[in-house]
Amino acid sequence: MSFPTRRLRRLRTSDKMRELVQQTTLSPKDFICPVFVQEDLKTRTKVESMTEIERLPLDDVNDEVGTISDLGIPAIMLFGIPTQKDEAGTSAFDDNGIVQKAISQIRENFGDKMVIMADVCLCQFTSTGHCGIVQGNKIDNDTSLDTLSKVAVSQAKAGVDTVSPSAMMDGQVAVIRNALDDEGFSDVSIMSHSAKHRSNFYSPFRDAAECAPKFGDRKTYQVPYTNAREAMMEVETDINEGVDIVMIKPALSYLDLIAETRRRFNVPVSAYSVSGEYALVKAASQLGYVNEKDMTEEILYSIKRAGADMIVTYFAKSASRFLQES
Ligand code: PBG
Repeated sequence: MSFPTRRLRRLRTSDKMRELVQQTTLSPKDFICPVFVQEDLKTRTKVESMTEIERLPLDDVNDEVGTISDLGIPAIMLFGIPTQKDEAGTSAFDDNGIVQKAISQIRENFGDKMVIMADVCLCQFTSTGHCGIVQGNKIDNDTSLDTLSKVAVSQAKAGVDTVSPSAMMDGQVAVIRNALDDEGFSDVSIMSHSAKHRSNFYSPFRDAAECAPKFGDRKTYQVPYTNAREAMMEVETDINEGVDIVMIKPALSYLDLIAETRRRFNVPVSAYSVSGEYALVKAASQLGYVNEKDMTEEILYSIKRAGADMIVTYFAKSASRFLQES
């Protein structure tokens, strides 16, 4: 009889053998953990659509960052929920705003032991719920750029390491880089939500951050999920504008774009595994349809395998716990 010429099963014979040939690795060091901080909040408040995710009062932020740090996670991504919203998104660039306060408090407590990243966007801060400034019935690109650069500079003054523009306004990276350099913050890096898609996976986040648009949708600024070339143009443009880290967002339905970005460009690539991806796993596991740990592990490994260097994920803490155990 003739034998198979190649027996791939030989390298799958035991746990140790499988460990030896494992190509993709996953560690808490790969994670960026989102943190939601809300102004004037008295106690930690659960986000209904995102089991185990909470909004924190400012007083609880250092505690939370301590937990994240103890798990070996090197970075956080801060999102603020302000009390005041207006058409100009003023509270987003207030030096005493909720995000700015959180940044300086964390910096004071943790020094350089935590990479502090902060979202630079307007939708939590504008009364319209749009990521840019609305003029007439349009989201005006260039007025928004001015505001976004003020947000970045105010966060830099508070001590942020990395600003993370997610408004999808054209030219946002260049304008922010310029403003930071002008103000003497040349060491503050930019991780842009380069290809942020107009996705249906964001709805739990809008619940968490109170930032759903009051009218219309985000189709005039976020990338259509049908257009891979357009996503690559967004990445390329951000690189030309001086970005330090690019991002593909969401992650799970966009693994092809993560892989393509990894192949085409020599920059660090992050992936944002968004709220809807988290909610799917959580809800299905609560119903007993899937095993949460196994499912989480597979998803995060897949995002790494596609080529992401780092993952913004709501599973950061839970995954770090099971990675530490194994
Ligand atoms: C706001 C913002 C959104 C997310 C991150 N920043 C929502 C949106 O664009 O509507 C979504 C993140 C997530 O779903 O986890 N600019």
